[in-house]
Amino acid sequence: MEEMTYIYELCERLPRCGPGDNESTRRAYESILEVPKQPFILDIGCGTGMQTLELARISEGKIIALDNCQGFLDILMNRAVEDRLQDFVTPKNMSMREMDFNEETFDIIWSEGALYSMGFQNGLKRCRQLLKDGGYLAVTELVYIAPDPPIPVVQYFESEYPDIKDVKSNVELIQNEGFHLLSNFTLPESSWLDNYYLPIEKKLPYLIKKYQNNQVALGVFEGFQNEVNFYKKYSEFYGYEFFVMKKE
Ligand SMILES: C[S@@+](CC[C@H](N)C(=O)[O-])C[C@H]1O[C@@H](n2cnc3c(N)ncnc32)[C@H](O)[C@@H]1O
Repeated sequence: MEEMTYIYELCERLPRCGPGDNESTRRAYESILEVPKQPFILDIGCGTGMQTLELARISEGKIIALDNCQGFLDILMNRAVEDRLQDFVTPKNMSMREMDFNEETFDIIWSEGALYSMGFQNGLKRCRQLLKDGGYLAVTELVYIAPDPPIPVVQYFESEYPDIKDVKSNVELIQNEGFHLLSNFTLPESSWLDNYYLPIEKKLPYLIKKYQNNQVALGVFEGFQNEVNFYKKYSEFYGYEFFVMKKE
């Protein structure tokens, strides 16, 4: 798909490919009880891997970094080499919808801003199959964070992410899917802005000029700018929630 080329070009040099920050990754990791020594970790939808490398630093485990974009995996491995973390990370170019690992393989499964690609509930089910007994799942999911969001917000998500729920409904879903919730917290606004939206806004003018005669590219960039503007206007109503849970 031609659009992917421009999305990739926009995202390739950003600190990360979605909202998040190392402090939140660490906070989520610290709520995992009794972490095995050198855990075997699967990072689903790792992108360019800011959280993968932070996990490598704090866990010293073996991490499979899975994404279906080879360009992102290449950037991740270059960054891993720069940080001397390459021995902890194995890149895997695979769709999360077609993961072929054996059941009960991983101690920990991680996924920041990505599990929605296979549907949150479906993702919970699949991760549960791949986790060892008593294994842990840490995931961020887009949620409503305030009651009664205004009509423009509801309409926006009806088209962009109809599956969006509030935190309470997601906690119920997590419990119904056979997990024990250990902790949850909302990512701060800074994790949307500092590592993602502000770097996007900085890069857009250059790309818009570069592709000034390319309507497909311009459509992609306009979509990103609209997304940033929408977040700045309505950030009190939605956000990413980090859920850390244990397989029961
Ligand atoms: C919003 S980005 C998040 C990346 C990274 N976890 C982060 O927080 O920076 C979502 C990632 O999921 C990947 N992705 C989307 N659909 C996928 C699929 N079906 N299988 C594997 N990865 C996928 C994208 O390539 C992208 O890197």
